[in-house]
Amino acid sequence: MSVHPSEPATAPPARPALNLVRLGEMARRGEKLVALTSYDATFARLLDDAGVDIQLVGDSLGNVIQGRSSTLPVSLEHMVYHTACVARGKQLSWLVADMPFGSYEADPRQAFASAAQLMGAGAQMVKLEGGGEMVRTVRFLVDRGIPVCAHLGLTPQRVHALGGFRVQGRNDAGAALLRADAAAMAEAGAAMLVLELVPSTLAREITLAHPAMLSIGIGAGAGTAGQVLVLHDLLGLGAGKRPRFVRDFTRDPDAAGATLGIAEAVRRYVADVKAGRFPDEAVHGF
Ligand code: KIV
Repeated sequence: MSVHPSEPATAPPARPALNLVRLGEMARRGEKLVALTSYDATFARLLDDAGVDIQLVGDSLGNVIQGRSSTLPVSLEHMVYHTACVARGKQLSWLVADMPFGSYEADPRQAFASAAQLMGAGAQMVKLEGGGEMVRTVRFLVDRGIPVCAHLGLTPQRVHALGGFRVQGRNDAGAALLRADAAAMAEAGAAMLVLELVPSTLAREITLAHPAMLSIGIGAGAGTAGQVLVLHDLLGLGAGKRPRFVRDFTRDPDAAGATLGIAEAVRRYVADVKAGRFPDEAVHGF
């Protein structure tokens, strides 16, 4: 009897399904958390099998799936659709979905209504961008049973207000604001925090100051509890100049000029983050 190729494999999972308690235990014993963006069921299964801890349905899908020049046109409907696709493909990873621009900023009730749709599609946590002005919303969601991942530093939904994709928190005032925003998010109950394009020393300091809020860095050095990359960047498929904090994991480090397959490249990323080989602050840090 043949098995339909699109049916999920039935082999027993080699590791338990991840939840916030398990992720917290891993971080406490010094194990780095590995996150990667994910947008469809096939890749969700591949990432799960490769040992990725956290799959993020990022609104970066506006760039890498839809071919837009920013994340601003991504709608809640798009996010719900891709979240449902990933939820059907993944088994063990923790699933975080981005709240897209315009779906949560107006007030906490608007945020709750949007988050409820994403949770209904299979998300286990929602991520939203912003600092002090979002604290009331984070508390409102957390109080109603929705785990929240905050996102500070370079927040792509505000790219026009920030004047481009640039490192945040470089000067004293910027660093003080980031410290205060991180403290406010931890106090409001955010269980995870993405730090994007932040100097390594500041990201490490924030991580140590708020151990219960799991910090996941992208372009924020090696001192965060975990790392995240955009899947297409990791696979060397990003358009234009590769950002400094990205490594193309399809390039085989053991054989110059050779390339790795997709699953092997993702497994390398997992292994290198877990072993502290990625990111290398001298190469990828700020
Ligand atoms: O949308 C996204 O992919 C993200 C990551 C860059 C953290 O928010």
